Amino acid sequence: MEDFDLVIRNGTVATASDIMQCDVGIVDGKVVALGRNLARGWQEIDAAGKLVLPGGVDAHCHLDQPMEEGLEMADDFRSGTISAACGGTTTVIPFAAQAKGQSLRAAVEDYHRRAEGKAVIDYAFHMIVSDPTEKVLKEELPQLISEGYTSFKIYMTYDDLKLNDRQIIDVLAIARREGAMVMIHAENADCIAWLTEQLEDAGLTAPKYHATSRPMLVEREATHRAIALSELVDVPILIVHVSGKEAIEQIRWAHGHGLRIYAETCPQYFMLTADDLDQEGYHGAKCICSPPPRDKENQQYIWDGLANGLFTVFSSDHAPFRYADPKGKMPGGKEVPFRYIPNGTPGLETRLPLLFSEGVGKGRIDLNRFVALTATDPAKMYGLYPQKGTIAIGADADIAIWDPHKEVVIANEHLHHNVDYTPYEGVMVTGWPTTTLSRGEVVYDGKDPQGVIGRGEFLKCGLPDPARPRKR
Ligand code: URP
Ligand code: ZN
Ligand code: ZN
Repeated sequence: MEDFDLVIRNGTVATASDIMQCDVGIVDGKVVALGRNLARGWQEIDAAGKLVLPGGVDAHCHLDQPMEEGLEMADDFRSGTISAACGGTTTVIPFAAQAKGQSLRAAVEDYHRRAEGKAVIDYAFHMIVSDPTEKVLKEELPQLISEGYTSFKIYMTYDDLKLNDRQIIDVLAIARREGAMVMIHAENADCIAWLTEQLEDAGLTAPKYHATSRPMLVEREATHRAIALSELVDVPILIVHVSGKEAIEQIRWAHGHGLRIYAETCPQYFMLTADDLDQEGYHGAKCICSPPPRDKENQQYIWDGLANGLFTVFSSDHAPFRYADPKGKMPGGKEVPFRYIPNGTPGLETRLPLLFSEGVGKGRIDLNRFVALTATDPAKMYGLYPQKGTIAIGADADIAIWDPHKEVVIANEHLHHNVDYTPYEGVMVTGWPTTTLSRGEVVYDGKDPQGVIGRGEFLKCGLPDPARPRKR
């Protein structure tokens, strides 16, 4: 009689705090033993020379999100979760987005229908609150938080999503009372609108002017305002997709004043610069995202923040719009002025290999920090820890086994998303998962996706660790 369903043997296990030479014993999808020379399992994986890491938690990605008329996200829960698994991620948290005028409950129910039967790895939902009516604030939001939707994103820009300061205060007050985490997209909408008009009046509408229309001060001002509103209400917030120095300085200032401001960044902010929006023809549209990538100096600020703890979460912000597609970066089949180009870059599958190769491989962060940023801390931030985000007795056996020496030249034809490009075409990385396990089942074998479509389960989130009320 075998003791385990699966034993991962001879590997180097790393968590956010430890690095150990040990085997991992798995029963019924859970880790049940960590130790040397474990008894035999029905299945065995020899991980000699490999790293055994918690599967990644991608806590900011967009999948099959309802879009304005004419646009469509290319990845649904099937292609998106397959792509994530092939890059070592085992949990995704995309967004159930409320349209203005829509009930928040209806948005969540619709998103469940979109996810149903499609995912190969487990998933939770953030919500996007774009219309905080009295019913949303008094009934829907508190109820949904209590049902396991414990985080939501709000926007300070985009006409169809943005909230004004009073609305932000109102939702922050609910988050404080209920213990939820608020994610904030911090850019000043009016500054962007004014700059966009100036550029258009001057005939400057090519993709590269997207970056000109959203300079760092636009992000700095909104970040500072978000921090002030969080201080006023005395509730923690998380600033998403931080792009560089000026927002970082605001966050550091807040930390210096004892404020609970958390921050997220993404691969595009150390891999790309604004010059990537200035490619031949219209190709710069591929790298349009908001906030935009900055420059080399700002990339260094991002690295410093990843290494020194300023950032708690490292996400992809996967926003799957195809390039040569009338529902994607060429709305209506045309090359359009930058203001009409849908924002975002794809990156579910490349998130972990890029940070591993550029970060751990080049000595910018250590392995424990890699695990913390990509798995453990996002799981804590959104109430999924310790079920997700670590390798520990009782945790789900969501594990990525990495060959730290495997050299891969990133090519879109080898990725599993449904987007027709990657911003990282031709980039060479060292280190890639050779096996990804979700609750003890192989969902990627180093060559192909595995696992039955629809095996992925919806996760109800607990209250986020950092949002628990504190004594003053
Ligand atoms: O440009 C971006 N980041 N697009 C995705 C939507 C968002 O704001 O996160
Ligand atoms: Zn955003
Ligand atoms: Zn996003």
